[in-house]
Amino acid sequence: MKKVLEYITDVLSQAFVQCGYEEKYGKVGISNRPDLCEYQCNGAMAAAKVYKKAPIIIADEIVKLLENHSLFEEIVSVKPGFINIKICGEFLKNYLQEMAVTPKFGCQMEKEPKTILVDYGGANVAKPLHVGHLRSAVIGESIKRTKRFFGNRVIGDVHLGDWGLQMGLIIEELHDRQPDLVYFDADYKGEYPKESPLTISEMEEIYPIASERSKKDAVFAERAHKATFRLQNGDPAYLALWKHIMNVSKADLKRNYDNLEVTFDLWKGESDAQPYIPDMIDDMIERNVAYQSQGAIVIDVALETDTKEIPPCLIRKSDGASLYATSDLATMLEREQLYQPDEYIYMTDKRQELYFTQVFRAAKKAGIVKSDTAMNFIGFGTVNGKDGKPFKTREGGVMRLENLISEINKAVYQKMEENAQKKGTSLEKEEVEKTVPIVGLSALKYGDLSNQASKDYIFDVDKFSSFEGNTGPYILYTIVRIKSILNKYTERGKMLEEADHLCCPTSGSEKGLMLTVSRFSDAIETAYSELAPYKICQYIYDLSNDLNHFYHETRIIDEENEEQQKSWIALLKLVKQILECGIDLLGFSAPDKM
Ligand code: ARG
Repeated sequence: MKKVLEYITDVLSQAFVQCGYEEKYGKVGISNRPDLCEYQCNGAMAAAKVYKKAPIIIADEIVKLLENHSLFEEIVSVKPGFINIKICGEFLKNYLQEMAVTPKFGCQMEKEPKTILVDYGGANVAKPLHVGHLRSAVIGESIKRTKRFFGNRVIGDVHLGDWGLQMGLIIEELHDRQPDLVYFDADYKGEYPKESPLTISEMEEIYPIASERSKKDAVFAERAHKATFRLQNGDPAYLALWKHIMNVSKADLKRNYDNLEVTFDLWKGESDAQPYIPDMIDDMIERNVAYQSQGAIVIDVALETDTKEIPPCLIRKSDGASLYATSDLATMLEREQLYQPDEYIYMTDKRQELYFTQVFRAAKKAGIVKSDTAMNFIGFGTVNGKDGKPFKTREGGVMRLENLISEINKAVYQKMEENAQKKGTSLEKEEVEKTVPIVGLSALKYGDLSNQASKDYIFDVDKFSSFEGNTGPYILYTIVRIKSILNKYTERGKMLEEADHLCCPTSGSEKGLMLTVSRFSDAIETAYSELAPYKICQYIYDLSNDLNHFYHETRIIDEENEEQQKSWIALLKLVKQILECGIDLLGFSAPDKM
């Protein structure tokens, strides 16, 4: 669908041409003085310099020509040469009506849909998920959904860290605790047990202990390195143990991601890339892309145009071990074979930015990905506590995702209870059990997504769970408010389906709401092209504010004029659908009551 701004710009541009000026001066923008007008054209100011005339004279000419144009309710020139515009209600109402029946409310779908691989989540097997992984999962999920919304084929891969030192640490710690397990018997020739020797809680207990121990105990650290090496070289006993660790840990991770409403198409990990590594390195050496340097193998990735130093990408250490970069490059090789992505998007903490610059350049240089494949890295900031330092538990440890969720849920529950008390009602247990996690998730995700990804933000449980202000619960509250009005409407025996056409706006708040609705596609398309979910948040927050303003000024359910009431109900239906679409792109949903 053509945008409202385009309609207005077209008319203004024609007027400029008709008056003898260049078309480009007709460009119109949204007014930054909504108290004065809705749209604004500053073209006369720019044209004045070129045509050597006073800007107000040009503005007057344009306005005179367009005074009676049906698109405008008002078009006026103001000194020194602005053109202020209010759009006609009739046009706006028709525009919204068309939006309501157009797929995706008129958003412009991708003309050439792409295959896009989104690498997000990035949890490490056998280590607890912590708040750092939260951002990758939350932002990645929203970006995946937004890319898909516009018609692309999007593949989300969790890309687990499942091949690293944590495995050796757990294996050696287990070795000391249960030396009699068959995995540690060098002479054992039989089949390995089907049952895992470790439960998830044992694993969670073991890992931090082993990790601490390796920092103090050099002998133990060396053992863990050796065990990791043995595993990576295909030792059957350790592979069998690794499979158990993987199964137990993956089941737990799935549960955690499910709670976050984050879903992956692929559950692959670093280990899946391993078979590709030997040939990949041989090939790189043969084609002179990679070379030996002090016993290691590296790829130069610096460019003459670099303003800071980009060190070579190391792909094999002198002891023969491969690295994080090696497995990322090999993973691309596999992805190219299986999916041929046109675009890659990676999401991690911004401290990995230099690393991804190296890896992307190496991948292009080695011809693993095509030269025109879009390689995107989204580096996000740190989650801080109110003290401005990285978020910790009260005891100073790393906050686990599960605890974070339960803190948020507790706060949401309190707010719901307070609200019920204010209304003189009490909460029904069943209702609460259903609603709290839904509202809690909105608080958690919106609290994150409403910030620009690259910035650090303060994890403020109280603020995020508030039902007022720029929060997830406020957006949900607005949707629930609409649902309740629609329910009242049907309870009076009226049909929602029959409320399917709009009247012209009758008040400033109604027109303001309609104008914001009409800007849906602009907002979502920007969020899409800039990979910026926070722009979706900004939009649905504005829309919620406008809806609530309209609601407070309008007696909808008691309206006696049927046509008028139907029109308002139709408008509410549309706002509800748009808000629901917005939160779905962000990765959460609304309850029926709250
Ligand atoms: N497991 C990594 C970490 O915790 C993140 C993985 C990101 N994805 C990638 N392809 N390197 O830091």
